[in-house]
Order: sequence, then structure tokens, then C-alpha cells
Amino acid sequence: MRIREGKADVEVPDGVFYNPIQKLSRDIVVAIARVEGVKRYFEPFAATGIRTLRMFLEANVQEAVVNDRKKEHAEVARRILSGYNVRVYNEDAHRLIREMMREPFDMVDLDQFGLPWRYIDGAIMATRPGGILTFIIPYPHDLFGELPNKCLRIYGSKPVKAAFRYERGARIALLELSRRAAAFDRHIEPLLTFRHKYYLRFVVRVKRKAKDPKIWRVKHDDVNFELLEEPRSYMNLGGPARGGKIWDKGFIGKLISAAPSEDSKRFLSKIYKEADAPPLYYDIRAICSKLKTNVPKMKRLEELGLIRTHFYEYGIRAPSINDIIKALL
Ligand SMILES: C[S@@+](CC[C@H](N)C(=O)[O-])C[C@H]1O[C@@H](n2cnc3c(N)ncnc32)[C@H](O)[C@@H]1O
Repeated sequence: MRIREGKADVEVPDGVFYNPIQKLSRDIVVAIARVEGVKRYFEPFAATGIRTLRMFLEANVQEAVVNDRKKEHAEVARRILSGYNVRVYNEDAHRLIREMMREPFDMVDLDQFGLPWRYIDGAIMATRPGGILTFIIPYPHDLFGELPNKCLRIYGSKPVKAAFRYERGARIALLELSRRAAAFDRHIEPLLTFRHKYYLRFVVRVKRKAKDPKIWRVKHDDVNFELLEEPRSYMNLGGPARGGKIWDKGFIGKLISAAPSEDSKRFLSKIYKEADAPPLYYDIRAICSKLKTNVPKMKRLEELGLIRTHFYEYGIRAPSINDIIKALL
């Protein structure tokens, strides 16, 4: 099979892992490496190594460590990355990440199947202070309220099954990450958080010294979420979850300029527009059904000055529900 993506053009054996949906994620990490001037990059779940290859071809990465537990994958990665300053391992990532804590990287990129939490402590410490940690959570049904007991078990937090569940779920995961970082006297600064297709992805800066994150705590939980209108009055519902910023607008602006494809620029631009808007969002369909009006075209709402969210197609951010009602009437 031939893979042509960004500046990479490689032939790999049929049947090795390559997921075209993740091109967006790879475009975004290329943009991050360009903006941050990443020199040393660590990809513990590399499959073919295409991601790291793009980091060399399209950013200024000088040195990388890549790994995959599957022998065929590590062999392909070794071949397509030959000629670059790369060490390729064929090991269990858990062990390797811990070993790499001794030589922290400018950027650590976790792209595993399943949950990242088994690997996260090592990954935090394998990121140099000031460096970038990025990781994926595929299929986060627990965080989105489908499996509340699982969410409690893993995160000690109660998800909310409302329209704003996607952002709330991301914030629950960010609180977990904050706790893990605190155990190493580190804190994390969220730079970019997004939901795309079947996954959530996080990009954070790892910083020295633990710091108290803003936390939304539990208050009460007996509300009919389908009719929920004022998400921020229920901030303390469910949870706990991380409050405060989940984006750095200035950083996202730079990513848009540096992004290697039109798709990634477009996607990041959507997030840029909501990055400074109030946290959580309203479900325009629920509001219209209460007002007994038709749901307007989302484009029209934008023209009226309301801010859409990338998290959910019918989600609108606004200072209060009255701003939305005024715009609708
Ligand atoms: C989603 S794929 C990685 C895709 C790649 N990062 C990309 O952008 O194309 C996940 C990879 O992790 C490998 N893997 C799964 N568990 C692992 C483990 N415990 N240690 C190392 N590699 C593992 C799998 O063999 C698979 O190739």
C-alpha cells in the first residue's frame, strides 16, 4: 500500500496499520512542532512511523524516538525512517516511556488504542518542563455520560448526559491529567482540546511546580438534562471537572498560520472562534423546542453574533440564554 500524506510518500506492506482519519491529528502535530520549534520528539505508539516521518519532512525535528510493540510495525518504521536521526524500538510502551523519563523530550505524542492513563505518568515526566504533551482518548463514552459508573471508576467523577457533555467530558479528563501532574510537582496548561470523529485529543504544556487548577465541584444531580437551559448555572453539577481555560487562543492562532493543510486550518479556525467564549454551551435545539420555533440555520446564528462550538453541531456559546433568545426573536 502506498501512503501519500503531507510531504510523506512511502510504500508499506498491505495490512499494516494506517488510519487516514488521523491525518487531521498528524497535520495538527506538524503545526505544533513548527510553532514550538520542536527538536526532540517521542512517539511511543508509532505503527508505520508516518507521523514521525512527517515531523522530519515538514517541521524542524532533529531527533526522534519511535516505538511499536508489533514487530512488523517497528520494522516498517525502521525502514521508512532510515537516514534520519531516529532510534526505533520494538517494546512495550509502558516500559520504554519510563526509561525515556531520563532524557525528556520537547514533545511526547501518545497515540495508543484504548485509554492513555496507564502511560500518562511516565509521559508527563518524559516531557521536559515547558515542553508539549499530546494524547488521545478514543471512544470516550464514559466521559460523555453513557457509562457513568465507568467514569466514576476511572476518573472519580460524575459525567453529565447533557448536550455539553463533550466539553464536560474533556474537562473531566483534564482534571485527571492535572492530578497526575501534581503527583510529580508539575502542572499542565491546556493549549488545545478537541473532539473529532471518535476521539478527544489534548495538547498541553507541562510546567514545573504543582499549581491548583480551577475545579468545578459536585453540588446536586437531580435535574432533567434534556431541558437544561443554563449550562453555567449547572457548572457544579456532576463532576468534579477542570474549570478555567481549555484553549490558548494565541497558540491556536499560530497553529492556523503554521498548519500544513486547508482541512486542518479550517478545523482549527472553528476552535479559534470559540476559544475565548464562555465555557460550556447551550443546545439550540432544546431552546427552540421550548420556544416552539424552528431551529434556524447555524450559519444564520453566526451572522447574529452567536458563537458555535466544534464540540457539538447544535451547540451555541453565549454569556446567557437571554442573548440567544434575543437573537432568535
Ligand atoms: C493508533 S496506532 C498508532 C498510529 C500512529 N501513531 C499514526 O499516527 O499513524 C497504535 C499503535 O500502538 C501499538 N501498540 C499498542 N499497544 C502497545 C504497547 N503497549 N506498546 C507499544 N505499542 C503498542 C499498536 O501496534 C499500533 O501500531
